[in-house]
Amino acid sequence: MNEVLKQLSERKSVRAFTDRKLSEEDRNAILTAAVQAPTAGNQQLYTILDIQDQKLKDRLAETCDHQPMIAKADMVLIFCADAAKWLNVYRTAGCQPRKPGVGDLLLACSDACIAAQNAVTAAWSLGIGSCYIGDIMENAETHQQLLHLPEYVMPACMIIFGCPAKEVGNRIKPERCDMDLIVQKDGYHELSLDDQKRMVSKSLNGKDFESWTQAFCARKYNSDFAREMSRSVEVYLEQFK
Ligand SMILES: Cc1cc2nc3c(=O)[nH]c(=O)nc-3n(C[C@H](O)[C@H](O)[C@H](O)COP(=O)(O)O)c2cc1C
Repeated sequence: MNEVLKQLSERKSVRAFTDRKLSEEDRNAILTAAVQAPTAGNQQLYTILDIQDQKLKDRLAETCDHQPMIAKADMVLIFCADAAKWLNVYRTAGCQPRKPGVGDLLLACSDACIAAQNAVTAAWSLGIGSCYIGDIMENAETHQQLLHLPEYVMPACMIIFGCPAKEVGNRIKPERCDMDLIVQKDGYHELSLDDQKRMVSKSLNGKDFESWTQAFCARKYNSDFAREMSRSVEVYLEQFK
């Protein structure tokens, strides 16, 4: 296995950080890796918010489903899907651009998340830990106000970065499910009942399929945060209709 493949495989989310600050060089390397990611039509349909104000970090730690590690992270980046900036450029150049549609938003979300993942990979290669925070998609009205988001700009994901605390080394990366459950040949088919059970088998930790899955469903899918995320994304989507 070459070094890139090894690092991609070994990377795991880091949620506990030391007080050590990231160097300017490391910060720049992470941001440079992000913007070198593939991007639709080389448009870079995203804007990265580099959150440095501690008060803002503290607030995000609350508004993003009460996750205190956000306030402790040295580097906090919000990758915004940005369907506004080209619109402004087009108008400035005297074009008559159409109103952005949902497709433009989804393409910008792809762009933003692909750039984000480059940042994660770059950070890991430098010994810097990171963790995505999906909850930035919640509380649209609050985040629009806090981050001064204009129309057609939506936070697609947030990543927190920092030097990994000692205990991180002991945490085992959660196992992925078998490849044949993820990769399907030449077209989509639904998983059989046996395969559905196999899909969660590595997470059961001694529990039976039904009780583990029911608890997981309550904690993740039917949770307040997941419902809030869907409500909030509707607020952004509304701008594109
Ligand atoms: C889109 C996205 C959103 C996530 N949101 C959170 C989050 O809000 N809080 C958190 O602790 N981890 C979050 N994670 C991290 C996942 O829980 C983690 O990637 C997953 O459990 C697999 O573990 P690993 O990254 O260590 O391989 C998120 C990951 C992704 C890709």
